[in-house]
Amino acid sequence: MIQTKKKIIIAIDGYSSSGKSTLAKEIAKTLDYKYIDSGAMYRAVTLFAIRNNIIDPKNHQIDEEKLRNLINQVQVNFKYNSDKDKQETYLNEENVEEEIREMEVSDNVSFISKYGFVREKMVKFQQEIGKEKGIVMDGRDIGTIVFPNAELKIFMNANAKVRAERRYLELKEKNVDVSFDEILENVRKRDHIDETREESPLKKASDSIELDNSNMNRQEQLDWIVRLVKERIG
Ligand code: DC
Repeated sequence: MIQTKKKIIIAIDGYSSSGKSTLAKEIAKTLDYKYIDSGAMYRAVTLFAIRNNIIDPKNHQIDEEKLRNLINQVQVNFKYNSDKDKQETYLNEENVEEEIREMEVSDNVSFISKYGFVREKMVKFQQEIGKEKGIVMDGRDIGTIVFPNAELKIFMNANAKVRAERRYLELKEKNVDVSFDEILENVRKRDHIDETREESPLKKASDSIELDNSNMNRQEQLDWIVRLVKERIG
């Protein structure tokens, strides 16, 4: 573990399955910081929308009015599970950590996270958590919208096939029955929606540092970010 003189906020943004969360978790552990997965919050809202028939998960048709009316009933927060040594996502006090990773949620989350009124609410939750400092948060708009003053901003990328391959292996390990082509299509579709949506599209903050990790292993990425942290706060 590395002790730093002052606690900072580290924002890690980038494409889906670019390895943001792996790197974010590892650097958080190394610095003894708290890791927050902002994507989990959008996934939790999506699960809420599926359960309440706000979105049809098959054709992504959304009842926007109903979502707008019910969004204030959504509370998302994290609780630390000491057995698993990780933060788990809670939707209205129910642990939904497993369910929000399922394909049905992945397939629909981009359609829910494009609404400004959904984002506003999630950003408020995230900024509240950030008041503590000493956190690493990953997502799409952390360096641009949530914490524009974060002391260290990283923007991660890797080519779509590499990202789909990683996601495929991850899901296979969990015995989820999906094909590589389905995953690649999901990755490409999400990239497109995330980049072209009107509200907070995925884009690199001007002061963030890009990391293309297509050909880097985990240790190389961790060494790279540790060096940056040391340069900033030693
Ligand atoms: O990081 P992830 O793949 O679990 O994120 C799920 C979705 O949530 C992703 O398709 C885009 C959206 N998202 C977002 O719009 N803003 C964030 N800060 C994090 C995620």
